[in-house]
Amino acid sequence: MAHPLISPSILSADFAKLGEEVRAIDAAGCDWVHVDVMDGHYVPNLTIGPAVVKALRPHSKKTFDVHLMVSPVDMWIDEFADAGADIITVHPEAGAHVHRSVQAIRAAGCKAGISLNPATPAKMLDYLLEEIDLVLIMSVNPGFGGQSFIHSQLRKIEAVRKAIDKGGHDVLIEVDGGVNADTARLCVDAGADVLVAGSATFKGGPDCYADNIAMLRGEAR
Ligand code: DX5
Ligand code: ZN
Repeated sequence: MAHPLISPSILSADFAKLGEEVRAIDAAGCDWVHVDVMDGHYVPNLTIGPAVVKALRPHSKKTFDVHLMVSPVDMWIDEFADAGADIITVHPEAGAHVHRSVQAIRAAGCKAGISLNPATPAKMLDYLLEEIDLVLIMSVNPGFGGQSFIHSQLRKIEAVRKAIDKGGHDVLIEVDGGVNADTARLCVDAGADVLVAGSATFKGGPDCYADNIAMLRGEAR
């Protein structure tokens, strides 16, 4: 398995040609495709729904990594699973019963992720690590691409890494927000397995995607 895995956020893609953009990042060597779903309520932005995920599905066989910034969230889990999501990640603050959300994601046949906002402590995971496949650590406040990396989250990555290793859990750590060639290295050193990158992947247009992804992986191009 390539390490770290790179999951470009299509929030920074050209929305007028999303299918083409997904094919381009696939060809450029991304590992996953990160889909940011925002509801204008849990976060102050509105993006895409299950119909768009369904329309994009035929454009790539890579893992669709669907990040739901939606509240309430449970009613959407089956919709995104049916649309072709492989991983569905939810925020504990977005519903009253996060454990139930995780059960619903797995019952729908997807891998389950929990996302921690910058102010949410790693402790939140105490009774969840055995039930999930992924922890998504937000290194910006959710809602927008192109924000600056919040460095205090490196300590959280280290704490979650320790908890996963100590318990022997089969859980990946993904970092999302402000990841670029510089901060990518810090995240990997702190224990991250997967890096989400919107602006840093899509900058410069399709001719640059392969180099941008290689840079994020720490391979000089
Ligand atoms: C923010 C989203 C991120 C965002 C990342 O709420 O979850 O996935 O698109 O964008 P960059 O990489 O530009 O910070
Ligand atoms: Zn995201």
